Amino acid sequence: MRIGVAKEIKPDEYRVALTPAGALELVRAGHEVLVEAGAGAGSAFADEVYARVGARIVGVDEVWSESDLLLKVKEPVPPEYPRLREGLTLFTYLHLAADEGLTRALVDSGVTAVAYETVETAGGALPLLAPMSEIAGRLASQAGAYFLEKPFGGRGLLLGGVPGVAPGRVLIIGGGIVGYNAAIIAIGLGAQVTILERSIDRMRHLEEVLSGRVTLLMSSSLQIESSVAEADLVVGAVLIPGALAPKLVTREMVAGMKQGSVVVDVAIDQGGCFETSRPTTHTDPVFVVEDVTHYCVTNMPGGVPITATKALTNATLPYVEAIAARGLDGAVAADRGLAKGVNVLGGRVAYEAVAAAHGLPYSPLDEVFAPAG
Ligand SMILES: NC(=O)c1ccc[n+]([C@@H]2O[C@H](COP(=O)([O-])OP(=O)(O)OC[C@H]3O[C@@H](n4cnc5c(N)ncnc54)[C@H](O)[C@@H]3O)[C@@H](O)[C@H]2O)c1
Repeated sequence: MRIGVAKEIKPDEYRVALTPAGALELVRAGHEVLVEAGAGAGSAFADEVYARVGARIVGVDEVWSESDLLLKVKEPVPPEYPRLREGLTLFTYLHLAADEGLTRALVDSGVTAVAYETVETAGGALPLLAPMSEIAGRLASQAGAYFLEKPFGGRGLLLGGVPGVAPGRVLIIGGGIVGYNAAIIAIGLGAQVTILERSIDRMRHLEEVLSGRVTLLMSSSLQIESSVAEADLVVGAVLIPGALAPKLVTREMVAGMKQGSVVVDVAIDQGGCFETSRPTTHTDPVFVVEDVTHYCVTNMPGGVPITATKALTNATLPYVEAIAARGLDGAVAADRGLAKGVNVLGGRVAYEAVAAAHGLPYSPLDEVFAPAG
């Protein structure tokens, strides 16, 4: 199969969809790999490194027009819409429920679009979202520690304390992938860490893996109110799949925090779980409300493209290899979790939530596509 790797043109996006190591695996398996010139530059992968492992460096027109399978990180942006075409399979983050224009562009073009974020494991987990949550969680505690420093508008508190001086208090709301990873880094910095969760099973798991290094409490409005008031740093890490994040922390609770405290609302990409949050960017990451610094960057992993590119491609490569080896129909027939990734095919929407979001007809995959085997 001819596999293309496009350069991302969305502002502030430095990741690339395939590392040279991944390219080598595909070349060794007998596939042809086309890499758009400069595609890896933002992640410190020069064109020559791809060329050395057997990839062909090409221009933007060639990578879009000659590939059978095109790998990207972010969804196509409007200047790329005219490049979408029948016969091309696109594998990337799409988040179509939030983007009607893109959904219609995909449908009208006849392209096949497989979304990273809706691929599932047999157990219903989201394997291509998890690496980005791991990164965002770890960054959340780092960013919080940084913005607690006085010169950056914070209280002037070292999260770890020193012998004889108490550590700072970190409160994490939501103990999923983001929350667990935020806790790991906060514990490592020496902070006193509390996680609020509402799933008892998840709390049991956290108790096992963190073995007494955090306080685990059932999440309730009352508990959130008292824990927020005591915290120096609050990390918002809740997720209710398919829904906007619940506004668990009200403006009054934020106003009750100590002056110069920090909130990091990782759930901002789902609307945020603080009433006072609004989306920010890496260029301008924080704002202050009620004397509390708010960090609400919607694409936190974009700040660490070298790590994020490797983590993303570690997760996507097995799926790319499967599609390349068997064709999309064969790969989907062999893996129903990958089938969940197919959002648009043959001019039809094959993912129910996306169809519902835009009032478009929903065509179950089996109707538009007869999987082999
Ligand atoms: N800003 C970014 O760059 C970025 C990057 C990655 C993920 N995220 C976002 O971070 C959020 C968390 O992602 P995740 O992968 O950790 O999800 P997850 O499903 O692994 O974890 C979410 C956790 O929240 C818990 N929860 C739900 N309601 C709760 C409540 N009322 N109180 C306490 N806990 C509650 C769930 O039980 C679950 O354990 C999502 O909104 C995700 O989109 C943002």
